[in-house]
Amino acid sequence: MKRRIGILTSGGDCPGLNAAIRGVARAAYELFDAEIIGIRNGYGGLIEGDYKEMNKKQFSGILTLGGTILGTSRTPFRNMRVIEDNGVDKVAAMKKTYKDLKLDCLVTLGGNGTHKTANLLSQEGLNVIGLPKTIDNDIYGTDFTFGFHTAVDIATDVIDRIHTTAASHGRCMVIEIMGNKAGWLTLYSGVAGGADVILLPEIPYDIEKVAKTVESRAKKKKAFSILAVAEGAMTREEAKMKKKEREALRAEQNFTCISSRIAKELTELVGVEARSVVPGHIQRGGSPSAYDRVLSTQFGVHAAQLIKEGHFGVTVALKGNDIVHNDLKDIAGVPKPVPQDDPVVVTARNMGINLGD
Ligand code: F6P
Repeated sequence: MKRRIGILTSGGDCPGLNAAIRGVARAAYELFDAEIIGIRNGYGGLIEGDYKEMNKKQFSGILTLGGTILGTSRTPFRNMRVIEDNGVDKVAAMKKTYKDLKLDCLVTLGGNGTHKTANLLSQEGLNVIGLPKTIDNDIYGTDFTFGFHTAVDIATDVIDRIHTTAASHGRCMVIEIMGNKAGWLTLYSGVAGGADVILLPEIPYDIEKVAKTVESRAKKKKAFSILAVAEGAMTREEAKMKKKEREALRAEQNFTCISSRIAKELTELVGVEARSVVPGHIQRGGSPSAYDRVLSTQFGVHAAQLIKEGHFGVTVALKGNDIVHNDLKDIAGVPKPVPQDDPVVVTARNMGINLGD
């Protein structure tokens, strides 16, 4: 039986998207009579009817390629039901494209927002399968998302390289790692990079406590310190504020990023020479690691198996060593912050790493 599959990538890009697309396509061609339609630029393409019919050849040579061959965009879930000024009803438009293309299934590769919209479309009656990607690793129900481990490798390499300058100059280096709501990437790369201080959004910090570690290292003639700070890190006071209030406070203080504020505060409190480093989107760029190539491929192949079985309304996940799937309705919109008792948090504490609390 012929099956027409639409594939889209939505939200921020990450390494492994192409490997996952390739996994879906290769297994689909292998397991059944598949026709694959690539939807351009995420849900934007589904709304606008922007797509390309694809053939086997187009999925060749993309395993190691960073980014996404389909393009991506951020189409916020909160606006999905909002009718545009030009009268466009986005949900109706997506359903129309699905119907016009005579799709049997839509595979959506993305993070939290993508999964919320995937669930909405599933509840609207479309056959949807999700694949969890994000360097933030914050999708509920899966041990790891693809893209995360590559980003950990990149962020760890950044910390390693900064380490040498920190040691040579005896400086305090504050490295800002991506992750606004979840600190997984900072936690893993901080531990892997031997950071002295790790600050996560989930564990509000006290700058005086951070300063103590930096000061005692300076006194012991280990004149340098490495701080791995999540972009969403916040003080205990800020944690009590609403997001808007926090943003207003930072704007008033004239800081564009958290690492520069911490570097300035540590210079004032301890007298060290501090610098902030923001690797930014480098953490999302380039070729996926071997781990992510395997995981993306496994996720993609599992999605193709689900299509063959006609099992929809789910997203693929990793549980221990097994590739499984969860119902979209059970995971969409559920946060996955770093728990206070996460084994890696406990490891960090037992190593004497300062978590700022
Ligand atoms: O969700 C992935 C992520 O890289 C976050 O870590 C970061 O906060 C955000 O995307 C940055 O988004 P953008 O690429 O839209 O600036």
